[in-house]
Amino acid sequence: MSSISILGLGAMGTALARTLLKNGHTVTVWNRTRSRAEPLAGAGAKIAESPAEAIAASELTILCLVDYPAARAVLEQAQEALAGRDLLNLTNGTPGDARELGTWLAARGAIYLDGGIMAIPPMIGGAGALILYSGSRALFDRHSLALEGRKPSPR
Ligand SMILES: NC(=O)c1ccc[n+]([C@@H]2O[C@H](COP(=O)([O-])OP(=O)(O)OC[C@H]3O[C@@H](n4cnc5c(N)ncnc54)[C@H](OP(=O)(O)O)[C@@H]3O)[C@@H](O)[C@H]2O)c1
Repeated sequence: MSSISILGLGAMGTALARTLLKNGHTVTVWNRTRSRAEPLAGAGAKIAESPAEAIAASELTILCLVDYPAARAVLEQAQEALAGRDLLNLTNGTPGDARELGTWLAARGAIYLDGGIMAIPPMIGGAGALILYSGSRALFDRHSLALEGRKPSPR
């Protein structure tokens, strides 16, 4: 089972958080506008008070922000928490944006995987939700249960 933090609780981040909770993962959430996180606490998520707290709380952090400048602004608030952490960015952007962010994160000791979501929020968790990944294969393998939408097996 993975512990996963999600930074960004718009329509897509919320759908990802709800699916991960439904699949039995331990989920921590953070959003710039805190009120959007509160319904998820009712569904079992822990609310972090800052991006750094969210990143420190979990083995994997997923970013799902409106665009790359927003993703970078959020990560800049959490620079002290990045070394050695696994980060998956599902924010839409260009390949150049992804390479630039990957380089910025590598310089801070983080491990980076980029993803492109080929689905709309109601499809997340269903068989038709395709997500394309590019970046650290080791990160993907460490969290493949969650990233492939599978449930942890009962102990
Ligand atoms: N929705 C879709 O159908 C879909 C499909 C595929 C891919 N995507 C991609 O998924 C990503 C998220 O989409 P979405 O539909 O969830 O968007 P959304 O509903 O508009 O949510 C945007 C999120 O970005 C946050 N945000 C915006 N500017 C910020 C800033 N400067 N600092 C911190 N947080 C900021 C918002 O926080 P606040 O709540 O505080 O405003 C909110 O959490 C986008 O890159 C989008 O292209 C979406």
